[in-house]
Amino acid sequence: MFDIHTHILPGVDDGAQNLDESLDLARAAVAEGITGLIATPHHQNGRYWNDAAFVTAAVSVLQEIFREKEIPLNLQAGQEIRVYPELLDDLAAGKLLTLGNSPYLLIEFPTANVPHYVSELFYELCLLGKIPVIAHPERNTELANHPDRLKKLIDLGAYAQVTSHSINGGFGRTVQTISLKMLRSNLVHLVSSDAHHIDMRHFALQEAYWRVQKELGREKCQHMKNNAEKIGMGEHMSKFWEEPVASRKTFFSFFRSKSL
Ligand SMILES: [Fe+2]
Repeated sequence: MFDIHTHILPGVDDGAQNLDESLDLARAAVAEGITGLIATPHHQNGRYWNDAAFVTAAVSVLQEIFREKEIPLNLQAGQEIRVYPELLDDLAAGKLLTLGNSPYLLIEFPTANVPHYVSELFYELCLLGKIPVIAHPERNTELANHPDRLKKLIDLGAYAQVTSHSINGGFGRTVQTISLKMLRSNLVHLVSSDAHHIDMRHFALQEAYWRVQKELGREKCQHMKNNAEKIGMGEHMSKFWEEPVASRKTFFSFFRSKSL
């Protein structure tokens, strides 16, 4: 298994706080059958800034430590980029990283909404051959309330990544229900852990894939696993052979009155 979204770099964001915590996460990943992962520290989220050069250097240091400690884990560089208006300028200036040298950028939205300029931004990114992967749409109030808006972004060329803990119920029944509905609607192309810490938010990918298989069947589950592996190899992934379906109806009216 390959995990495209993790906070394993030590002391750079709200993930691993020191090297010991990074190594704990790395060993837990190996124990779960994960062979490679992408370090995606928060970038531009108002609290953390981790630009391309810094992340690349930190990843090489941590990969070397894995080698020394005989932890068989392929570590690659990425970022979880909070969407912001100057994103295209910073991409051109070399401050942003795709996921493991693939064509994909991991993009996070604010919790409550999707900024008005996102459709145009995604269109421009796709023209540049940089394809947005939407991080955990199940935890965005607007997308949970309006699945047709997620479908529109996917139709523009974006992909969507749901978090293992959301599928497993770790963020509560509401987020789990939304995640499963997004999965059944073919609006999700990747599952990853968004792992932060060994105790609170670890990998739980095996369990999530088990639940995906139960919901969607073996073939689609394998397709999602393959998508993550393809990103790890720097290759293009693919969408499902079935079209996404999304009505204008909300996935969960709970979100109308209460945000996550
Ligand atoms: Fe994350």
